[in-house]
This record gives sequence, C-alpha cells and structure tokens, in this order.
Amino acid sequence: MEYDPILYDSDPRPFLKDEIEFYVKLVNKLKAKTILELGVGTGRIFSKLLPLVKFAEGLDISESMLTACRNKCSGSMNYKLHKASFTDFNLQTTFDLIYLPFNTFQHLLTQEEQIECLINIKNHMHVGSRFILDVMNGDNLIFDFENWKQDYVGTLAEGGSVEREQKTIKVDSKNFIIHKIFRYKEIVAGKIDKILEFNAQMKVTPNKKMGEILQMTGFKIEDVWSDYAFSYTCDAKKIIYCLKLNGV
Ligand SMILES: C[S@@+](CC[C@H](N)C(=O)[O-])C[C@H]1O[C@@H](n2cnc3c(N)ncnc32)[C@H](O)[C@@H]1O
Repeated sequence: MEYDPILYDSDPRPFLKDEIEFYVKLVNKLKAKTILELGVGTGRIFSKLLPLVKFAEGLDISESMLTACRNKCSGSMNYKLHKASFTDFNLQTTFDLIYLPFNTFQHLLTQEEQIECLINIKNHMHVGSRFILDVMNGDNLIFDFENWKQDYVGTLAEGGSVEREQKTIKVDSKNFIIHKIFRYKEIVAGKIDKILEFNAQMKVTPNKKMGEILQMTGFKIEDVWSDYAFSYTCDAKKIIYCLKLNGV
C-alpha cells in the first residue's frame, strides 16, 4: 500500500498522541541516546523524539513520506533518513532503541520477510539495546465483512476535511492475511470533492506464532504491553513487545 503523506497526517485520533507520549517516556526511561525508527513515515513520532536524543535515523520505502518527514524535522540537525526497506538494510551501526510502530510490521506478508526484517534489526542492536514492536493483537480480531466502519473525520492542512472509512473484504486464515479497503472522502465546502480508495493487505500473526518467530530470530521478550500506558489486558486490540537480544 502506497501512503499519501497529506492524508496520513490528517488522522486526528487521540491514541496517536498517546503513542507519541509513550515513545517520549520510553526514550527517557531507557536513557536512549541513539534511536532508529523503521517505517518512519512523515516523522509523526520521529520529529518529537529528536530533541531528546543525540542522533536518530529513520528508514522508509516511500519517497513522498520521507520528503514530508524531512519537512517536519527541518529545525533539527541530529538525524539521517534512508530510503530502504526494513527487510534489507545495513546502517553499519547499533542503536540504543529501535522501534517499529503502528502495525507497520504487518506490511510484511510472508514469514520469510518477517525473519529477514528481524535479523536486520538484530544486527543493529548492542547488548543494552531495546527493540519495540507494535502490532495488532493476532488473537483478538473481529471482522465485519458487511459494513464500512468510519475511522475518523480529520482536517486537511490546505482546508476542507477528510473522512476515512474501512472495510474488511477477505481473510486468508491459512497465511493470516487480512484484505482491507481504506476509503478517503475529501470534503470541501460541505460537498464530497474526491474519493480515494486503497487496497491493503496485512499479516496478523497469532501471538503464539509471533513469540516463536521472535525467539527463533534471537530475541527475548522483556515486556508485553497492550496500550500506550505500559500495561497489559488480554482482550486489547494491540500488542507491544519490548525485546532485547537473547542471551545477553
Ligand atoms: C502506518 S505508516 C507508519 C508511519 C510512522 N511510523 C508513524 O507511526 O506515523 C507505515 C510506514 O511504513 C512504510 N513502509 C511500509 N513497508 C515498508 C518497508 N518494507 N520498509 C520500509 N518502510 C516501509 C510506509 O511507506 C509508511 O510510511
């Protein structure tokens, strides 16, 4: 799925602010001086962490998202962005904190890609590093194939508003892949001006399987949270792993 930076930044949902606050607390808690965000997008989280760290790097496959990120970070000098996939990168350094936020790992549709990504991450960690992986809770999904669900109504920077809806069209339960359509309605002067639709596929790996993959690739689960307040409830929609290298 190709992201549109303007539509992406129009999302006003309150949990997104909680998410930024969570990463701010985490950087402070870990005393992280060097950080790496995988799938950095428009720099929504990244730009807010720059004042807290010595140096930050971000990686994304989308040139338009990276351009938006550069604009958002223009007041800072302590960062570097890379156009690369998180399944294939070598930055020749390690980081105190690596994070892959907001379900982005679920863009990887095969176990091979998941493993490649995790091994690349491991190669950028030192004994004290932490890796935060934020995904949907694979044991706790409810599907509605009939109805469109409205996610939010947001404001566009250049005026007008945008309404986002989504619908699940298919679930491939053998490969744990969910097929969805995201629909954006741009509204100007009270009328629909444009409708954009994006097809998206997301792999939502069951938690037990995810645990096995993490262990197989050399990670130890230090903590598991289900919200951005560092707590856990098993019926939550989200699962956030705090990982370190196994055996250190
Ligand atoms: C849901 S957005 C998250 C952006 C940002 N991390 C945030 O939380 O606001 C997912 C981002 O991951 C990027 N992305 C998707 N697959 C990728 C891959 N294989 N390698 C690097 N970036 C990827 C997309 O281009 C997009 O910018």
